[in-house]
Amino acid sequence: MDGGEFSPESSRDRPSCCGLSRKILVCLGVGVLALILLGLGLALFAVHRWRLFSKPLQWNATRTTPHFSEIFLGRCYLYTQVLHPELGSTDCVRIMKTFKSAFISKHPCNITEEDYQPLIELDTQTLPCDKFVFWSKSGDLAHQYTRIQQEMFTLEDTFLGYLADGLSWCGDPNTYEMNEHSCPNWRDCPNNPKSVFWKVMSRKFAEAACGVVQVMLNGSIISPFDKSSTFGGVEMPRFNPKKVRKLQAWVMHDIGGLSSDSCSNPSINELKKIADQKQIPFVCHNDYRPIKLIQCVKAPEHPCS
Ligand SMILES: *[C@@H]1O[C@H](CO)[C@@H](O)[C@H](O)[C@H]1NC(C)=O
Ligand SMILES: *[C@@H]1O[C@H](CO)[C@@H](O)[C@H](O)[C@H]1NC(C)=O
Ligand SMILES: *[C@@H]1O[C@H](CO)[C@@H](O)[C@H](O)[C@H]1NC(C)=O
Repeated sequence: MDGGEFSPESSRDRPSCCGLSRKILVCLGVGVLALILLGLGLALFAVHRWRLFSKPLQWNATRTTPHFSEIFLGRCYLYTQVLHPELGSTDCVRIMKTFKSAFISKHPCNITEEDYQPLIELDTQTLPCDKFVFWSKSGDLAHQYTRIQQEMFTLEDTFLGYLADGLSWCGDPNTYEMNEHSCPNWRDCPNNPKSVFWKVMSRKFAEAACGVVQVMLNGSIISPFDKSSTFGGVEMPRFNPKKVRKLQAWVMHDIGGLSSDSCSNPSINELKKIADQKQIPFVCHNDYRPIKLIQCVKAPEHPCS
């Protein structure tokens, strides 16, 4: 009875045993295949992460500004949606991606002006004539002025200038990220992402200048006009005499400092000569009054006149 019962069971068992082993074989096959695929995936992932985790190059200047992307994007929406709604259709995410692609994964000493060309091509802002304000060694005061006189533009009041003003940034050849540790300064290498950006923007701003153009200079330093400054070396040479009707210099002195007739300073004469060569009429004002009043507001204890 036991044997009779056993034999059909064992005969039923055998195919079930063979089915099981076939299943195991199939399972093993699929398992091995999955393992191979997983291995391949891990290898690819590792190669990718290796770039992310490998140590970035070290530099002397300040690292990429923390929360760079959030600041950049926030400024873009503020500028295009609130401050200048005529630019309201601007695609800020695209602007940021294009900006970053100028330097991401590149050696931060090898940035070229062409790297920023795609970004410039996305900029549709046109600036009105007679509203350009250039500055040299007087940036703070120039920006205080255009904050009040909002129809005037320094470079940092234009769309792309506004986005990057005061920020630091650079990439690294070993990563897809921005360098969160350090960035090269001008002395490390002149062709770093930030210096090249401002050079390109300054040149473009100067080429666009039209009508009566203002430049604010610092009368409290020895040479208010410096040929090797951004204004002297990059902007002034790019003024188009067919568009710039007049160049007007405002030489501002620090409140409480020595006030002198800086318009007769030798460096201002040099500026006048360059303007003459370009056949751009030039006038110079010591302590242009509307701006002097801003200085006075900030120094209430001083008997401002
Ligand atoms: C910078 O670019 C030049 C020309 O493209 C190349 O010869 C040089 O090796 C690059 N330097 C670095 C550090 O990548
Ligand atoms: C002139 O330059 C000095 C030194 O850099 C600075 O402290 C001062 O604020 C500048 N003055 C103006 C009017 O910009
Ligand atoms: C940058 O730092 C390195 C190492 O600390 C130093 O040798 C070099 O002189 C510094 N360069 C500048 C321009 O400060």
